[in-house]
Amino acid sequence: MSGMQHLLSMADLDRDDIEQLLNLTDSFAEVSARQIPKVPALRGKTIAWLFYEDSTRTRLSFETAAKRLSADSMNFSVGSSSINKGESLRDTVETISAMGVDGIVVRHRGAGAPQRITQWTDACVVNAGDGWHQHPTQALLDLYTAAHHLGDLDGRRIAIVGDIKHSRVARSNAIGFATMGADVTFVAPRTLLPPSLEGWPVTVTHDLDEVIGEVDICYLLRMQLERQEQSVVPTLREFHEEYGLTAARAARMRDDALIMHPGPMNRGVEIAGEVADRPNAVITEQVTNGIAVRMAVLYLLLGSGLDLVDERAHVA
Ligand code: CP
Repeated sequence: MSGMQHLLSMADLDRDDIEQLLNLTDSFAEVSARQIPKVPALRGKTIAWLFYEDSTRTRLSFETAAKRLSADSMNFSVGSSSINKGESLRDTVETISAMGVDGIVVRHRGAGAPQRITQWTDACVVNAGDGWHQHPTQALLDLYTAAHHLGDLDGRRIAIVGDIKHSRVARSNAIGFATMGADVTFVAPRTLLPPSLEGWPVTVTHDLDEVIGEVDICYLLRMQLERQEQSVVPTLREFHEEYGLTAARAARMRDDALIMHPGPMNRGVEIAGEVADRPNAVITEQVTNGIAVRMAVLYLLLGSGLDLVDERAHVA
């Protein structure tokens, strides 16, 4: 990632980039475990949060990451901004930029919005989720969490299950895990798959029971009812029985296999409530790791541009 100005898509990162970022995340996880979890790495830098869609995990962990790096935040709330008076995305970005920002972290319902923003600002732009397209920091924290438990991801099997069609997490994670050498399988009914998967580094099955006993990771996706224009499953109860991680299916998983979910969860839909609380479900760990991963991303994009050895020294 050295020299990269923006983080827009997992497709922009090669294996070395991801490994560099995950190594640096170790340093920031160590910072986060300190009694005073703060370093001066981004002192003097200002970051604006431009969240046009709701968020709990991503926004709070980015804000926490920025605080731990001593960056200043430009707080911005879409609901109480001049966007309500009809100000466009471009004018909003140019206004924020005119006040002097070094980074803009954006979540937007429009696929490609973060890419467009890079044309209107000199600030680093980080994609915190754009429509159905990409959510790269989610994929990075998932890779970090998976590697922490499983070690090398080369040859590991991951099933990504459920509402693939509307999921930026599925798209980001398919690229991320495949880049790290894992075998990715999408598991979904036809109605919850994109019209074409040509060129995607994945295999597809419509039968979760066929793969559940063999996978290293069962990654459940949230059923995104707010993005669905028509009914795509007969009922949520039937979806749960056919594609949900029920207690019976979880019992068939290998002992060392992980259960993952990006949150927020629909307990009883894509995952049974009690399954989400099992020891091999690393869902809250994913959230915790999100802070250190986002510290690494902000540091690499907004930081001094030193090489990795110097970067490690700087956060020590
Ligand atoms: N995983 C995720 O993006 O969660 P939030 O929508 O709460 O940010």
